[in-house]
Amino acid sequence: MEFSNSQITKETDRLFKNLSKTNWSKSDCKIIAPITLEINKLKKEKDTIILTHSYMTPDLMYGIADFIGDSYGLSKLASETKAKTILFCSVYFMAETAKILNPKKTVIVPAIAGCSLAESITPEDVQNMRKKYPTAGIVCYVNTSAAVKAECDVCCTSSNALKIIEAMPQKKIIFLPDALMAKNLQPLTKKQLISWHGTCIVHEEFSPKTVDEIRIEYPNVKILAHTECNPAVIAKVDMAGGTEGMIKYIENTNTKKFMLVTECGLTDRIKVEYPNKQIVGSCALCPYMKKIMLKDVLQVLKSPRKDQIIDLPADVMKKAKKSLDRMVKIVEKSK
Ligand code: 13P
Ligand code: SF4
Repeated sequence: MEFSNSQITKETDRLFKNLSKTNWSKSDCKIIAPITLEINKLKKEKDTIILTHSYMTPDLMYGIADFIGDSYGLSKLASETKAKTILFCSVYFMAETAKILNPKKTVIVPAIAGCSLAESITPEDVQNMRKKYPTAGIVCYVNTSAAVKAECDVCCTSSNALKIIEAMPQKKIIFLPDALMAKNLQPLTKKQLISWHGTCIVHEEFSPKTVDEIRIEYPNVKILAHTECNPAVIAKVDMAGGTEGMIKYIENTNTKKFMLVTECGLTDRIKVEYPNKQIVGSCALCPYMKKIMLKDVLQVLKSPRKDQIIDLPADVMKKAKKSLDRMVKIVEKSK
């Protein structure tokens, strides 16, 4: 697709307005301008909505996304969209969730991106847990495959895990697959949590020592951590939650300085959307999330390969939908 010099200049300026806040140069923006122009033109022609997780790179979030959000918010948007196609910029399980919640839509992904949590457990593992603890309810974190969701009683995300656990009729809850999140949730509930041994390879790497060092260097800092972090880290922070919870916390406090103990995409979001807030310390990169690249968005939009189109067995879709619908019902009822 050919664009005029004035179209490229205008697009470069539009991109630079946001991306400069995350250290992109004007020439970087000029290089991607023809690609974002083409994607934005094609998505309209092809009646496609682009959903983008907060861990994506700034070119995706501010160049081409229709919505940026967390796993719950994006699932809701996917279930409600009228667009013909959903292009999901995130890890694979989120795109699967979109397909399950809105099965008539075509759901496509720029790259096949896993997740250490989703890969830690199989449907057979869940069946075995059910046999071992027949009276327990099974809550599965959304970071699981569709086939695993199909074996659970209800799903949850970082934004509603406690609410879902409390809403279950059983006293004993198998919470899977995140062992660290289960440990972080246990003190908050009277229910007995039985966990699995999955971990997020990104969040488990943060150490309590880093938190201590940041507090010494920046005495007025507020430190926010994702609940996938180690309990030793969570014990030392000002707020623990999911990505959307962290944004809300920043929005609703007068504090100016924050450290975000999470993936760098969220730090980029804060820098762009809350320029009067300062982010200190370092973040981490998720190798799975960062597999999603602008050039692949263009490719999948033009002509998706078979493996880029989400296609799930009907029985898995039906069973997994029950777990997801139950989560949505509990969350929406509590609003
Ligand atoms: P959120 O739902 O909090 O965005 O979490 C998704 C995720 O993968 C965190 O690592
Ligand atoms: Fe999975 Fe962790 Fe990456 Fe989130 S940050 S997608 S939990 S590996």
